[in-house]
Amino acid sequence: MLNHPSPLLRVQSLKTSFFTDRGEIPAVDDITFHIHEGEIVGIVGESGCGKSVTSLSIMGLIPSPPGKITGGEIFYGDEDLTKASEKRMRDLRGNEIAMIFQEPMTSLNPVFTIGNQMLETIRLHKGWNKKDSLEHAITVLKLVGLPRAEELVKEYPHQLSGGMRQRVMIAMAMACEPKLLIADEPTTALDVTIQAQILKLMKDLNERTKTAIMLITHDLGVVAEVCDRVIVMYSGKVVEQGAVEDIFTNPSHPYTKGLLQSVPDIRQQQEKLYSIPGNVPKPGSIKEGCRFAPRCYAAFDRCSVEHPNLSEVQGDHRARCFLVEEEKEEAYG
Ligand SMILES: Nc1ncnc2c1ncn2[C@@H]1O[C@H](COP(=O)(O)OP(=O)(O)OP(=O)(O)O)[C@@H](O)[C@H]1O
Ligand code: SF4
Ligand SMILES: [Mg+2]
Repeated sequence: MLNHPSPLLRVQSLKTSFFTDRGEIPAVDDITFHIHEGEIVGIVGESGCGKSVTSLSIMGLIPSPPGKITGGEIFYGDEDLTKASEKRMRDLRGNEIAMIFQEPMTSLNPVFTIGNQMLETIRLHKGWNKKDSLEHAITVLKLVGLPRAEELVKEYPHQLSGGMRQRVMIAMAMACEPKLLIADEPTTALDVTIQAQILKLMKDLNERTKTAIMLITHDLGVVAEVCDRVIVMYSGKVVEQGAVEDIFTNPSHPYTKGLLQSVPDIRQQQEKLYSIPGNVPKPGSIKEGCRFAPRCYAAFDRCSVEHPNLSEVQGDHRARCFLVEEEKEEAYG
């Protein structure tokens, strides 16, 4: 276990909303978590839970309007990024915090060749000359499994397939050796072999340079394989968090239990995979009680009127459920 001083990233009571014709959509609703240097933290939850909005908030890239950070702080070291200037954020994004976006096409510049875009990033970060930067670009493109890297650097984004563009993005993010890498579903669109290769590269980078990684994924198998800790989000809130082994051996929130049950078990022939009944509610639509109550097999009277807090399961393992709270009360009287 690493002995950590203060976290590299500390998200404190963050709230991010979108203001639309239909009113305020509280996509991220008071979340608190941290990531230490060298840690790989997984963020999981179904579609619409607020994972991407969390990462875009950290990067200072929430489209505004309609979006806005309406509360809380995002500390990167001692600096509150919610108060940083656009210039400072651009600086950080070029040097210390890199992101692999869920939609890669939007983040490559269509008018520059792949080589030129990578050169710029590498030169800015490493201060190397053109020739060395280009060589490094080609090496990293090969590392992410892209064929014909020497020719690829002369091509434009539109000449590449979606999967290839995604790998270019991953290569660019890793070439910078950032302090913090935010990877939003980085491998979902890629085939399994490439996926495994990229995850291994991310893990290598993490071990070699102590890059902290915030890994957003639907895939709990990936979490089990590469993450140290996991944060489970539901409807804009953190509902459970803890060390990966604690979450997997002792999931304490009914939502986490449901997610784990929906993972295919390769050792068993399952006729039909379990899926949590119902859908993720629209942000802000559940005004009272636990937001998971309409889908929860364990819901009882209190759940529809009161909103549960994050309670300690054990140590840093916490879950937002009355059952955890009441179990504790019973144990300690
Ligand atoms: N530009 C926007 N305008 C209005 N609402 C938005 C906007 N972007 C996101 N939202 C809302 O914020 C909520 C959280 O979205 P977010 O993209 O963070 O989900 P996610 O957890 O990343 O889901 P997925 O797994 O599908 O990527 C959603 O309900 C979405 O409708
Ligand atoms: S608080 Fe109630 S509804 Fe919410 S997860 Fe726990 S048991 Fe289910
Ligand atoms: Mg997303």
